[in-house]
Amino acid sequence: MKKITIAIDGFSSTGKSTVAKQIANHLGYVYVDSGAMYRAVTYYAMQQGFIDVNHFDIEGLVANLKTIDIRFKFNNKFGFAEVYLNDMNIENDIRTLEVSSFVSKVAEISEVRQKLVEQQKQLGKDGGVVMDGRDIGTVVFTDAELKLFMTASAETRAERRYSELIERGDAVTYEAVLKNVQERDYIDSHRKDSPLTKAKDAIQIDNSNMTLQEQFDKILELVNVTLENVN
Ligand code: CDP
Ligand code: CDP
Repeated sequence: MKKITIAIDGFSSTGKSTVAKQIANHLGYVYVDSGAMYRAVTYYAMQQGFIDVNHFDIEGLVANLKTIDIRFKFNNKFGFAEVYLNDMNIENDIRTLEVSSFVSKVAEISEVRQKLVEQQKQLGKDGGVVMDGRDIGTVVFTDAELKLFMTASAETRAERRYSELIERGDAVTYEAVLKNVQERDYIDSHRKDSPLTKAKDAIQIDNSNMTLQEQFDKILELVNVTLENVN
């Protein structure tokens, strides 16, 4: 049976990574969280002092991009891959609101995108991959057999992300999370290089009123139809 490539794009906290992991597990495919890679570069920039609330040394970050090594290593305990930056497990560190507050600015830089897109193409070169992000169907895998574009209202998405951060024990307010979600939506959709936009051949899914189970069932149906068509 031919393995396909599934590209899932869309706005923040629309459930992309949750459903991408479920589908990858179901099919025995590889799951790649491309957002984790942009978050890893952002975390590096923060650690090295290239970015903070007062300044952003883009040239300094770009000059050091070659020293950044991002890898995914499978964690048997959790059943999914965790992200490593220069051999350090940073899975937990990259999910903070602070990283979220800088990541879209880092993701605007073409040199950063070039480096990560090249690695993403490499990770998915043999097919059998589910990758989620912002430009997977439009830039990384333009030939993906199935492309999805996920949306939901900003308030619903902020509620979801807020609950997640509170569960982690992070001290955040709903208002701050909503503001971050809206700011990232804007920057991600308006940047020059690879803006977030629905690929012409992507299927749009608004899951504002869908449970995780309903969303999984709908997407699995689309996956099965695609598999039937290519095999
Ligand atoms: O999970 P969440 O939706 O909050 O974000 P993410 O998928 O972890 O992505 C974090 C940020 O990385 C996004 O807001 C984008 O700025 C950037 N990103 C991107 O530019 N291109 C991608 N393919 C994936 C993420
Ligand atoms: O990857 P992305 O940022 O698009 O979203 P996610 O991390 O998969 O989902 C964000 C949060 O929303 C998670 O806690 C999901 O369980 C939740 N969610 C939900 O409750 N219902 C949905 N239909 C989709 C996501």
